[in-house]
Amino acid sequence: MRSIIDILDLSTEEINELVHTAEDIIAHPADYAEICHGKKLATLFFEPSTRTRLSFEAAMYELGGNVIGFSEANSSSAAKGESVSDTVKTVSCYADIIAMRHPKEGAPRVASMAASIPVINAGDGGHNHPTQTLADLLTIYRHRHSFSNLKLGLCGDLKFGRTVHSLLNAMSRYEGLEVVLISPDELKLPSYVKKDVLQKNNIPYVQTENLEEALPGLDIIYMTRVQRERFFNEEDYLRLKDTYILTPDKLKGTRDDLMIMHPLPRVNEISVAIDDDPRACYFEQVLNGKYMRMALIMKLLKEAGTI
Ligand code: CP
Repeated sequence: MRSIIDILDLSTEEINELVHTAEDIIAHPADYAEICHGKKLATLFFEPSTRTRLSFEAAMYELGGNVIGFSEANSSSAAKGESVSDTVKTVSCYADIIAMRHPKEGAPRVASMAASIPVINAGDGGHNHPTQTLADLLTIYRHRHSFSNLKLGLCGDLKFGRTVHSLLNAMSRYEGLEVVLISPDELKLPSYVKKDVLQKNNIPYVQTENLEEALPGLDIIYMTRVQRERFFNEEDYLRLKDTYILTPDKLKGTRDDLMIMHPLPRVNEISVAIDDDPRACYFEQVLNGKYMRMALIMKLLKEAGTI
């Protein structure tokens, strides 16, 4: 049974196929409105979410299917001590596909080994978030019509930022990528990601703490939130949370076609004054996430022989 736990579980050809399916859904939504009729998606969210859970649910409804699930661990039998494996074995009796978010890195992988239906990782701790990357990739493709020859700036919490780790993995497979890593020292990209993704693929990268100096010349600036929920110490969070705030004055001298991206939720990282800038792409990412999740649900259910 095929599950998607890591963005590298999809080949570049499959990512292209998902992008083209998503574009076809955007152009011809009625053609997809009954494809999952009678099928059920289970959303198992052990950690809070607005976009990922609701876009998975909207995706399944727009495919004609139904949704069951829970939005917090405390409303499931996890609160009584049930294991992830037993939970997904149970849910496999009721649903056709699972989207799971969990605070523990690796939990969706464990789930995929126990489930008898496909499992999609909807974010595991500070590790990976492959369907956010699918949303990001469709957004990049719709602006640039290619994933090659891009200078990508990643800013904020690069240590715990699962969206950053998944996006770097995905982008590392395309030619001509250059990366600028912008973070405070405490929130630098983990060395395992630098080694396994950047160094292994000979991707040129620089590390800096200075956002303003890094901005000119970037094709994409991908801002991220400093995540309070990943800190053991509130003082450290409060010290670091507003390190980077993108404001209109900092955009002077940047490219006219700069893509300003953020997986959201945003706290203070991007001033709301930027929201009306035509280069702001973050609400496009939100919408594109629904289309890519529709494409992914269909692909996995087709491969499983369910539809
Ligand atoms: N981007 C993202 O994962 O948002 P949520 O936490 O609201 O799902």
